[in-house]
Amino acid sequence: MIRSIRLRLLVMISLSILLLWGATFGFTWWRTSRDINLVYDAELKLVAELLAVATEHELEELDLEDYQINLSESGYDFPLLLQVWSDDNKLVIQGPGTPDNVLTSSALDGYSDSEFDGEGWRVYTLNIPEYNYRIHVARGHAVSEALVSSFVQDVVKPLLIVLPLSGMLWFIIQQGFRPLRSVSRLIGERDYDYLHPVTAEHIPEEVADLVDELNALLTRLKVSIERNNRFTADVAHELRTPIAGMLVQMQSSVTGRTDEEREKGLAQINKGLNHLNHVVNQLLILASIEPEKIRMQFEVFDLVSVAEEVMSDISPMALTKQVEMELIADDRIELNGNREMLAIMLSNLVTNAMKFTPGGNKISVFIKNHYKGVELAVEDSGPGIPDDKKKWVFERLNRLPGETESGSGLGLSIVKEICELHQGIITLQDRKDEHGLIVNLFLPHLRQS
Ligand SMILES: Nc1ncnc2c1ncn2[C@@H]1O[C@H](COP(=O)(O)OP(=O)(O)OP(=O)(O)O)[C@@H](O)[C@H]1O
Ligand SMILES: [Mg+2]
Repeated sequence: MIRSIRLRLLVMISLSILLLWGATFGFTWWRTSRDINLVYDAELKLVAELLAVATEHELEELDLEDYQINLSESGYDFPLLLQVWSDDNKLVIQGPGTPDNVLTSSALDGYSDSEFDGEGWRVYTLNIPEYNYRIHVARGHAVSEALVSSFVQDVVKPLLIVLPLSGMLWFIIQQGFRPLRSVSRLIGERDYDYLHPVTAEHIPEEVADLVDELNALLTRLKVSIERNNRFTADVAHELRTPIAGMLVQMQSSVTGRTDEEREKGLAQINKGLNHLNHVVNQLLILASIEPEKIRMQFEVFDLVSVAEEVMSDISPMALTKQVEMELIADDRIELNGNREMLAIMLSNLVTNAMKFTPGGNKISVFIKNHYKGVELAVEDSGPGIPDDKKKWVFERLNRLPGETESGSGLGLSIVKEICELHQGIITLQDRKDEHGLIVNLFLPHLRQS
């Protein structure tokens, strides 16, 4: 198997030329020899018939009992062999250069092929029954073959010019591959920190699809690298502060003079570790959101049962805080998506609502099915979010200034990413009846792939 496309093209084109050449040669040979033989055969017949007329004429004039002429002795020069035999097997007329023995064993009228003097001959036989004479006219096969050969050569010779074209072909193919080389060079320039799409001028149609796919890959790679970079930065940022705080607390609990001081220090460390644990969990969720992989795990499931599970997980917190939770939805609402991710999304929204709702109040989750998708709303009685911060809170690590509730500021960015993965829309709005926030989501019914 030839790995170079250039070489493969050259070999294939050259072989095709040779094949074409061979076919032209063969066909021309066959067709020319057929036509030339037809003409030569016609000539043999014509000469035989002329000879018959001449012989009949001679016979009427002379008594040819003892008549015998050898035309070569009379100075004739003729490319055909001629014989006129009498019925008593006497060679009456003999053409120039014609042998004495009979030209063909066939005594019937018509064409036959015979061999003598080590050569092949085409013979035409004509009987003249009225006078009891038989005429043979013959021509050597070699004559027609020589003519066919010279004719075919004349036809085929110009095709020989095509052969040096193979060299040119190499040059043409080289030229044809130039755009590919320039695309390769551009790809070669790409690096970890330089992943811009390849935009070469005059990209040939044949490689345009390849370049498009490559550009799509570069874009995906860029997004993925940016995501990783952001993740690493978030990890460093989010872990550094609590770890530094805990180190200080550790110091004070070790050096603390009273039990009370040491216990206070340990309690702080415990709080810090819990926070750290939460941050790490949120970071791990963020890291696990890989669009391609998650889309592969889409399934049709009941969103209401997911909401019930999430709310039941949060119920201990609701009990502690004395916050009532209600779910207003039909029995079963099906959605095509990633069940695990949507559970994480709902959990973050309900946890936020719970976290920011003062004790003694209520939070509600509404799920409604529509023709085009599912509408989901989480409503709380907390302080709400100012309008100018309603988009801002979705960015990673953003928390409202002066936020006293614990958290890493990653929850809503996780919610946004999961929502986008399901081609959904998320908006925040203030409650009309009282203070509080409503998180509205619309998740379209996606077709199963
Ligand atoms: N229901 C809400 N009511 C009022 N403010 C909210 C509400 N939800 C979010 N916020 C504000 O938006 C910020 C970002 O929310 P987000 O869920 O991203 O982070 P978090 O809850 O602070 O931390 P995490 O979710 O990672 O535990 C919150 O810190 C809070 O200031
Ligand atoms: Mg949150």
